Amino acid sequence: MMISHVSHARGAAGSLILVNPSHPLPQQPPPALMPVDHSRPDILLERRAAKLLQACIHAVKAEGQIVPVSGWRSQAEQQAIWDETWAKEGEAFTRQYVAIPGCSEHQTGLAIDLGLAAPEIDFIRPNFPEDGICGSFRRAAAQYGFVLRYPAGKEAITHIAHEPWHFRFVGIPHSALMTELGLTLEEYLLYLRGFSPARPLQYQKGAYRFLVYRLPPEAPEEAPGAGEYLQCSDDNQGGRIITRWRRTAPWASGAAI
Ligand code: DAL
Ligand code: ZN
Repeated sequence: MMISHVSHARGAAGSLILVNPSHPLPQQPPPALMPVDHSRPDILLERRAAKLLQACIHAVKAEGQIVPVSGWRSQAEQQAIWDETWAKEGEAFTRQYVAIPGCSEHQTGLAIDLGLAAPEIDFIRPNFPEDGICGSFRRAAAQYGFVLRYPAGKEAITHIAHEPWHFRFVGIPHSALMTELGLTLEEYLLYLRGFSPARPLQYQKGAYRFLVYRLPPEAPEEAPGAGEYLQCSDDNQGGRIITRWRRTAPWASGAAI
């Protein structure tokens, strides 16, 4: 019989964890990862994010035209990218386009850089135009749980320059809500602080009714009610975001959530 006396420090798990210069990712093992594209087995993403990215690329018929450039990165890789970019491009460029090691959401396995397929692809700033097939992907991304993480005009909030190629998996319905509300992850998590179990954010999308709210750290675990689904994500700010949903219209067909 094995008895373990090791107690694990609480990590940060779930699709809504905030990782930015003021919110480093706690040192923890990466989630279960898988390749996003058979042609690039070295580019990995958290499994659910990888599957939904594949589904989105398939839906907009972008296979072979939109390619993964960078997915999950270890702390050592992020450090190497930081050091190399600093040496080549200098400090200002590096701070604009590379997250401080320990503070990159690539380290979560929930972020992916995508590029338009080309013989040469810039690793730090891949070409991902607004129009054409990339535009189609961009418009579909929220239906598959992804958001453009570093939009233009929000640099003072994200502390990263506009990165049209960097998408973050936050999951449904959060991707749809963030896109409709025009909020970055920093802003969205602040917005969710206004919602509680007694006063949840209510959102109908297709045949599904969602309730979203934040729990303080001391709140007990929650369980789904009958006929309900429940997801819990740390926010990496000391709280947890609860998402509850149920089908409200089982007769609706092809409803997108
Ligand atoms: N390019 C993004 C900000 C990163 O390095 O995580
Ligand atoms: Zn990126």
